[in-house]
Amino acid sequence: MQKEEWYQTWFDTDYYHLLYRHRDITEAENNINALINFLQLPKSAKILDLACGTGRHAKHIASHGYAVTGYDLSPNNIDKAKKFENSLLHFEIKDMLQPFGNKKFDAVFNLFTSFGYFPSKQNHQTALQHVYDSLNTGGTFVIDFLNSTKIKQQLVPQESKEIDGVQFFIKRFWDAGFIVKQIIVKDKTDVYFFEEKVMGLTLADFTAFFNTIDFQIENVFGNFSLHPFDEKTSERLILVVKK
Ligand SMILES: C[S@@+](CC[C@H](N)C(=O)[O-])C[C@H]1O[C@@H](n2cnc3c(N)ncnc32)[C@H](O)[C@@H]1O
Repeated sequence: MQKEEWYQTWFDTDYYHLLYRHRDITEAENNINALINFLQLPKSAKILDLACGTGRHAKHIASHGYAVTGYDLSPNNIDKAKKFENSLLHFEIKDMLQPFGNKKFDAVFNLFTSFGYFPSKQNHQTALQHVYDSLNTGGTFVIDFLNSTKIKQQLVPQESKEIDGVQFFIKRFWDAGFIVKQIIVKDKTDVYFFEEKVMGLTLADFTAFFNTIDFQIENVFGNFSLHPFDEKTSERLILVVKK
């Protein structure tokens, strides 16, 4: 049997949702409002939320009147998201490493560091090619990634927290180009180990990916107030690119 990658298991657990519960609907709504306001997509635009999780962004995009599809690898996340389906909002299990199929979109969003999980740059290039192939000509791709340069410099090596009686012991370190977060979960007498391993992709890496695919970079922002990106100080790396 093939070894499961960390991203195939961790995001499917209730512990992931407990640890990140501060990344909530309000944050998602504010970020979507900023993007929608900036992009000014026509109301007829079809939008894909790629790696949508439980659909916190997708739901709000649909509430702006757009037809939205959410794709995610995690069956549990898609199950939760499907409860909110309506005529404008649909969800499907989909692995971004595989071609997405025939559906075409006018915009694809990939939000809250939902990228960088694969072992090689070639895998990431493949996923971005699938995004490109799923877009109509003139379509827009927005990726909201961490600023790996700043994270590398300001890594908090250890942290522990208790949420709803569950204890999390977290270790963070940089390893061979990856930002690694090891998470030990203690829930009553049960102990579990999880890991996040995100490739420390930089603006230069994304530029190289996009140039290979013929995506044009239009904007590079450093936060959801849409201030220009600064590698030393920005919280996020948000790229807006066009097919
Ligand atoms: C950090 S979570 C963010 C989820 C959502 N964008 C949000 O902000 O709530 C990353 C998501 O990526 C999904 N994911 C991981 N690998 C994937 C893949 N190969 N294809 C599609 N989705 C994937 C996970 O299941 C998880 O829901």
